[in-house]
Amino acid sequence: MALRWAMVVLLVGLVAGVSADCDAKRVEKTETFLSTGIKIRPGDVNNKFYDVGSPAGSFATVDFNAELVYENGDPVPLTDVYLHHWIMFEFTIPTGGAKLVGQELQEAMRGSGAHAYHVAGGKPLRVAAGREVRQGWAKGGETRHLNSTIPAPYGMVSGGEGLRTQWVLNVHGIDTRGAKNRMGCTECRCDLFSGGNRSRVPDNYPGGLFCCPDESRCALREDFNADDASLERTIHLKYTWTYIALDECVIPVQGMGLDVTAKNGVKGTVEYNVEGHCKAEDFHKPECVDVRETVIESLYGGDLVYAVAHLHAYALDSTLWGEDGRLICHSPPMYGHGTAAGDEKGYVVGIRHCNPSLGANGSVGKIKKGEKLRFQVKYTRVDGPHTGVMGVLFTKIAQEGGIVQSVPLRGSGNRKILN
Ligand SMILES: *[C@@H]1O[C@H](CO)[C@@H](O)[C@H](O)[C@H]1NC(C)=O
Ligand SMILES: *[C@@H]1O[C@H](CO)[C@@H](O)[C@H](O)[C@H]1NC(C)=O
Ligand SMILES: *[C@@H]1O[C@H](CO)[C@@H](O)[C@H](O)[C@H]1NC(C)=O
Repeated sequence: MALRWAMVVLLVGLVAGVSADCDAKRVEKTETFLSTGIKIRPGDVNNKFYDVGSPAGSFATVDFNAELVYENGDPVPLTDVYLHHWIMFEFTIPTGGAKLVGQELQEAMRGSGAHAYHVAGGKPLRVAAGREVRQGWAKGGETRHLNSTIPAPYGMVSGGEGLRTQWVLNVHGIDTRGAKNRMGCTECRCDLFSGGNRSRVPDNYPGGLFCCPDESRCALREDFNADDASLERTIHLKYTWTYIALDECVIPVQGMGLDVTAKNGVKGTVEYNVEGHCKAEDFHKPECVDVRETVIESLYGGDLVYAVAHLHAYALDSTLWGEDGRLICHSPPMYGHGTAAGDEKGYVVGIRHCNPSLGANGSVGKIKKGEKLRFQVKYTRVDGPHTGVMGVLFTKIAQEGGIVQSVPLRGSGNRKILN
């Protein structure tokens, strides 16, 4: 009931504007932003949070792309700086409160628990009283060839009447120039890293995010002259934001993340290790493929408008099936074959997305609340073992009866608490 009531409030807010012709092609605006400069030296790890610019007011995001660039605008190849991930979050600012900036922002975000943003809906991430995630999305090295378009008439709604929000960007980059073991650095193999605050490294943890925190360093080759001042560079995350006006034509989508390491009702670890080792020529042998699978009941029901996986190097495939066995989405990685930015050999440079509810048979993409979804991820053991790999599926669902995510848990005025 609370949900329906809040939808009425939301709709009244939307319809209060000028009415639009919903059959007309949507009018998109695009703005490009540059993040704060990030200083890098060979071996450096940066994993900080920035208060960043966004389009003004209330709007619906329909596309968002990003890449790392040098100060002169040249793209940074993944072989120079591996982009482990970037995340954009929109947080509510409590009544009478201010934006979080500087050290306060770092501490609030770090304290909020690693991977919290991957957890499927339901319980929003809260970094402090009154500061809850309202919108957000994330990608990794695949960002350059990943299609992030949310097709019409859908959009990811931001802002809202009487609501103050702040956009926060997190960039996790690992400078692997001169690295002793470049892929080992990208996998955050603990034995290769030093420094940073590694107080959270769990026991028997061979590699992953806890071993490559902000200000840690990955081991360099002994013959590499890391002191060469010309190797010190400044990079930025350049992001391009496409959005539309928020009117009654926009159907809001709800984010839901599926983590292959999660089980129904049990939070996953997001990262996992692919044990074993195979030689390249044994690539096709079944024992050289690591298969993970999980069944998760969908928190939401409605049209699955968009889905895309997040996978690391050595990933082979990812697939989502419905409870009746129908294939909902196949989201495989794309690998580079050369040296240029966007085509780095051995790196995941893109991941194929799906629009299950928009296909020739849209019923494939209709998901029931509580439907048991089966998600499978495959990695190769070639060159293994591999540490800190991920198998996540980010989905956007047009929920029957409206969305939960874009309404704050605790708002100002007469807004209602949802849940
Ligand atoms: C991205 O996917 C959409 C379908 O959702 C398609 O219409 C569009 O052409 C694609 N963009 C590119 C650049 O391939
Ligand atoms: C390291 O992080 C822990 C939390 O994981 C924190 O309690 C501790 O104060 C930090 N240490 C330093 C030196 O920042
Ligand atoms: C659409 O897909 C559903 C589920 O797979 C199937 O039951 C139905 O027969 C399909 N319809 C058509 C027209 O192909």
